[in-house]
Amino acid sequence: MDEILIRGGKRLKGKVSISGAKNAALPILAATLLAEGECRIQNVPQLRDVSTILRLISDLGGKTSEIDPHQVSVDNTQATGHEAPYELVRTMRASCLVLGPLLARRGRARVSLPGGCAIGARPLNLHLKGLQQLGAHIDLDQGYINARASRLKGAHIWLDISTVTGTENLMMAACLAQGESIIENAACEPEIVDLAAALTKMGAKIAGAGTDCIHIQGVSSLSGFTHRIIPDRVETGTFMIAAAITGGEVEIDNCHPEHLSTVTAKLIEAGIEVEEKADSLKVHAHGTLQAVDIKTATYPGFPTDMQAQFMALMTLARGSCMISETIFENRFMHVSELIRLGANIKIEGHTALVTGVPVLKGAPVMATDLRASASLVLAGLAAHGETLISRIYHLDRGYEQIEQKLAALGADIERLA
Ligand code: EPZ
Repeated sequence: MDEILIRGGKRLKGKVSISGAKNAALPILAATLLAEGECRIQNVPQLRDVSTILRLISDLGGKTSEIDPHQVSVDNTQATGHEAPYELVRTMRASCLVLGPLLARRGRARVSLPGGCAIGARPLNLHLKGLQQLGAHIDLDQGYINARASRLKGAHIWLDISTVTGTENLMMAACLAQGESIIENAACEPEIVDLAAALTKMGAKIAGAGTDCIHIQGVSSLSGFTHRIIPDRVETGTFMIAAAITGGEVEIDNCHPEHLSTVTAKLIEAGIEVEEKADSLKVHAHGTLQAVDIKTATYPGFPTDMQAQFMALMTLARGSCMISETIFENRFMHVSELIRLGANIKIEGHTALVTGVPVLKGAPVMATDLRASASLVLAGLAAHGETLISRIYHLDRGYEQIEQKLAALGADIERLA
């Protein structure tokens, strides 16, 4: 299993360029299942999860090819497959995003339930309830979702929780349904807006993406498109914290600062200097780091995907802070590993009390999920001595060439095969 070895204590300096957003690429690649014609997607990040969904699309009969390292062509015009097998779905729960498009375009889908996840139960009940409201007949058997629909019909859907992929699945299904659909309490993340932009290029009629109420007028067919994926706001935030935790000075290019305004606000509150431009950010950490409370929330609140990384920063802040996780029920797997590096953290239910310590000391630690592994990398960059992170395959799901990017900023980091 790959490991990453970090010799901490180096201040990061220089420029880094952000890759395309994983959580926009996955739904937009799934949306190609709706199209009659070739789809060209640009700024696609080179990630394990992207390879997984491309393999799934290919297994479903789609033609996929790489135009360049960050641009793919997908054509599902002749494809007729409808099954997403367990061995694939269990490696990436976002495979569930093929459910809506397959139902809408091919009238049926057999998608494995994803099974457990480290950060929480993450059920799909709201996806299925919404699809049933759109007229799908759904039953579960032997761990698979069996869904059928001759033609989906528009519906007024109320989501109990503003589920991101649930909103995306239902939005894609509704695009080819008969009549109008309304999705209330929809997720507002930038990735939803990017998906809606791609669907609109395909001929979909969508209004309100980015708000909690999305209106969709069904159409009879959707065509191919060309679309450039937005930058990854979580990768951006991760590099902001890499600069902050090492007391460095880093320029972050090809990003959308407005997509992570709450993270920026919290870093400024903690004493970090942040200069925003249209598509870049400058982060300069020179003063004392102050402890700052955070509470994760749906967009535009503080993103749950940045909670572990921010906690790593707070382990070295002056004073104590409360970090509350409101989205997932078990997203503190990084805490015990941070404690191995000398952090002072106490968990009370969904809240962690972090009391800053003067230094962290390098040690062997284990990655447990994608953002927890990013948190350990960040802590390792600041820790004195060597930090060896195992199970680094978690990191490869969501960060493109992270050790190369960090090394280019002056970090002493290497992957041990
Ligand atoms: C998306 O996951 C992201 N993944 C996650 O990023 C992110 O953490 C999450 O949204 C929250 O922002 C992708 O976009 C591929 P949810 P998703 O449905 O859609 C509950 C990363 O690190 N829920 O918004 O699966 C659920 O259990 C990943 O890149 C139901 O109860 O998250 C959770 O508690 C991790 N029933 C809450 O809602 C449902 O049917 C929010 O989950 C659906 C969700």
